[in-house]
Amino acid sequence: MNKDRKTVFSGVQPSGNLTIGNYLGAIKNFSRFSEEYKTFYCVVDMHAITVRQVPAELRRRTYETLALYMACGLDEKKNTLFVQSHVPEHAELGWVLNCYTMFGELSRMTQFKDKSAKHAQNINAGLFTYPTLMAADILLYQTDLVPVGIDQKQHLELARDIAMRFNQVYSETFTVPEGYIPTDTMKIMSLAEPTAKMSKSDTNQNAVVYILDSKDDIMRKFKKAVTDSDAEVRYSEDKPGVSNLMTIYRAFTNKTFDEIEREFSGKGYGDFKAAVGEACADGLAPVRDEFARLIADKAHLESVMKAGADEAHYYAMKTMSKVKRKIGFVN
Ligand code: TRP
Repeated sequence: MNKDRKTVFSGVQPSGNLTIGNYLGAIKNFSRFSEEYKTFYCVVDMHAITVRQVPAELRRRTYETLALYMACGLDEKKNTLFVQSHVPEHAELGWVLNCYTMFGELSRMTQFKDKSAKHAQNINAGLFTYPTLMAADILLYQTDLVPVGIDQKQHLELARDIAMRFNQVYSETFTVPEGYIPTDTMKIMSLAEPTAKMSKSDTNQNAVVYILDSKDDIMRKFKKAVTDSDAEVRYSEDKPGVSNLMTIYRAFTNKTFDEIEREFSGKGYGDFKAAVGEACADGLAPVRDEFARLIADKAHLESVMKAGADEAHYYAMKTMSKVKRKIGFVN
């Protein structure tokens, strides 16, 4: 396939409010690709319905997620920003790829195991085949690079396996994608239980810092963050609370762990937590302001998603017609 630029694709679900884990682990990185790559950033509403959603909230969050993309620095003129359900080829290719994905492979997905434990009353087929839809998202655009958080690594591996398998059977059809998984921020952990991932669906409001939290909320949450009893700001595996705060502080200030240890040597956790809160709130302030401006203009957001869907649809159709021809569907 002739491409003048390599392609980047990523997706965010419009479910729940996004956390600083989503921000530092994925979204913050998205804008760095805009110049060099052809970039597609998708609001994956079809993935969101694998767990029950309140319709009005799903609709509202779809707008919000798009606005948040833009507030995090994604210029709609330099990036294709769109909503998954607006481009029917995602569902179409998703079905096809289901037929090239093994039951055993899907059974091994840790996110499926986690989610089916959490939503035991609704272990639907969509939850099970979620990774094949994600593979379709990626492969539809002949994606080279997929920036995602570390929690999506297994799904990405599966997308690569599916692409290679399909190519093996039908000759070169899909670009085999690579992940772009920032290891320097690693996982951001819960502030209340620092051995567990910070999750947007956590019911403990003090455990999670949302991108759109007010400064007061951010300061309060960091103040309450769980640490330990040795009163020493030092990065260490046996100090998960302090290490997590250091990771967050490093991400917002670009200071190294050594610098941070020196900065707070001899000081108490109170000072340290306040500094982390300040750095986080200051870092997020421009995003919050820009979001407020964007979300007030629905018509503009609608024109962005419409233009994005038109653009995405053009590329999606190209891949889909190739797939149909290779499989043996009558044109
Ligand atoms: N599964 C991803 C998540 O929950 C969202 C997603 C869906 C995605 N399709 C994608 C991410 C394609 C990257 C590429 O975070």
